[in-house]
Amino acid sequence: MGGSSGIGEASAARFAADGAEVVITGRHQDRLDKAVERIGGHVTAHRMDGSVPADVDAFFEGSGPVDHLVLALSGSAGGGPLAELDLKDLAAGFDGKFWPYVRILQAALPRLREDASVTLVTAASARAAFPGTAGLAAVNGALEAMVAPLAAELAPLRVNAVSPGVVDTAWWDHVPAEQRRALFDGLAAVTPVGRVGRPDDIAQAVHALAANAFMTGVVLDCTGGANLSMGR
Ligand SMILES: NC(=O)c1ccc[n+]([C@@H]2O[C@H](COP(=O)([O-])OP(=O)(O)OC[C@H]3O[C@@H](n4cnc5c(N)ncnc54)[C@H](OP(=O)(O)O)[C@@H]3O)[C@@H](O)[C@H]2O)c1
Repeated sequence: MGGSSGIGEASAARFAADGAEVVITGRHQDRLDKAVERIGGHVTAHRMDGSVPADVDAFFEGSGPVDHLVLALSGSAGGGPLAELDLKDLAAGFDGKFWPYVRILQAALPRLREDASVTLVTAASARAAFPGTAGLAAVNGALEAMVAPLAAELAPLRVNAVSPGVVDTAWWDHVPAEQRRALFDGLAAVTPVGRVGRPDDIAQAVHALAANAFMTGVVLDCTGGANLSMGR
């Protein structure tokens, strides 16, 4: 879900390279078509807005059995210092990510095989002490808090999350290019691996959690070590 760009697309590419039959979703058909071409393999696209319950229901009603579900819709609202945070913007943050993830998972349950896996792409901001990210922490922290209880409740189905640090994707397009470069360079300088993330870094972690039948209830940081130094 959210497979026409960034982390979702890179994850779809990892599964497709394994020979899996992959379905990617997103709101824009043109972006989906281009992603299908880039990914190659057994990939089909389905236009769907994850924040529209009727779209989500229709998608799963028409779907066959699902082995691995990856939730990677972008949700970017709700950031900024608390003093200036418009609560409507924070609510939009939940509407753009938290509620769609929960609704999609609920709608997917009848289609998920008994031993299927679900992987949520959350964000390391959920647990970082990084000023200006309390709203994003709330949205992603709420999802991360659900991972362990859902892993117990839905077993033997497995539920995990990958929690990325900053990754160079279209998610950052709202930041002007020069400012974005300065931000990435600054973060790279305080990140142990010396760079910000690439979509495939996160896709490798998503694929590993989906593939490993002995991992469930895990929130896996994939940050290049940035969470060790962020917020000091
Ligand atoms: N990039 C980062 O630094 C970073 C860091 C931590 C966590 N994350 C998380 O990683 C996830 C993926 O982000 P990304 O960086 O890969 O972003 P991205 O490159 O913007 O990709 C987002 C994907 O989600 C789709 N999408 C967005 N809203 C949707 C909706 N309502 N219904 C269906 N599809 C939707 C987009 O396609 P359409 O726009 O065509 O719908 C696109 O395919 C997000 O949850 C984000 O919070 C990202």
